[in-house]
Amino acid sequence: MQKLIAANWKMFKTIGEAREMASDLVRRVGEIPADREVLVIPPSTAIFAVAEEFGHAKGFQVGGQNFHPEVEGAFTGEIAPRMLTDLCCTYALAGHSERRHVFGEGDELVGRKVTFGLENGLKMILCVGEKIDERKGGRVEEVLRRQLEVGLAGVSRDIPETDIVVAYEPVWAIGTGEVAGPEEIVHAHAFIRNVLVELFGEKGHSIRIQYGGSVKPKNCADILALDNVDGVLVGGASLQAESFSQIVKA
Ligand code: G3P
Repeated sequence: MQKLIAANWKMFKTIGEAREMASDLVRRVGEIPADREVLVIPPSTAIFAVAEEFGHAKGFQVGGQNFHPEVEGAFTGEIAPRMLTDLCCTYALAGHSERRHVFGEGDELVGRKVTFGLENGLKMILCVGEKIDERKGGRVEEVLRRQLEVGLAGVSRDIPETDIVVAYEPVWAIGTGEVAGPEEIVHAHAFIRNVLVELFGEKGHSIRIQYGGSVKPKNCADILALDNVDGVLVGGASLQAESFSQIVKA
């Protein structure tokens, strides 16, 4: 199974910057290593430009950061999954910590997005992760179990294992430069793996689990070498083509 190396550009790139960055990335990365899948997740307004730059480059994929779980309707300001697939998106995020803790998205809405995205042609990345007070309170497993069980409640057990990904992003490691330690990553990923096996049986062993939270060129090789780490979801370090290309090739 290829390791999924994904860049979450959040709200940092204008359309022009995103286009420039995408072509720079193609140049710097060149041939994507055979054991890697590379996905860039730009702001929705920049998806077209990025997809256009990736057009002739083998293997580069684009994804969506968010969508509303309806085909269409009176949802001012929102976008529908098919607007992402129309723009050649292959993946979308659901449950990113900023959607949960900045925009107040609850587990049920996250679960609806995961199910609806899968039903509408997208592979889905379900983001889970505890806050520092939950970690300090010894509630990591309780939080992860709830986010996984509710987030994946509507996912058919026949789902191809490549269509659903879990990203473990401890909230306290996101954007802080404070990357989770190897033991913390190994423990959380092992727990997530066990819950995936409970939910999906044998298939749960091959559903990919990414780590996210202060991934940098200097730490990514060690992180990718850890048990049950099947990729990374990168924020800040993906905003420069050079550093993200180093992560892709780490
Ligand atoms: O989705 C990835 C992002 O939340 C991680 O951000 O800046 O800690 O790599 P960063």
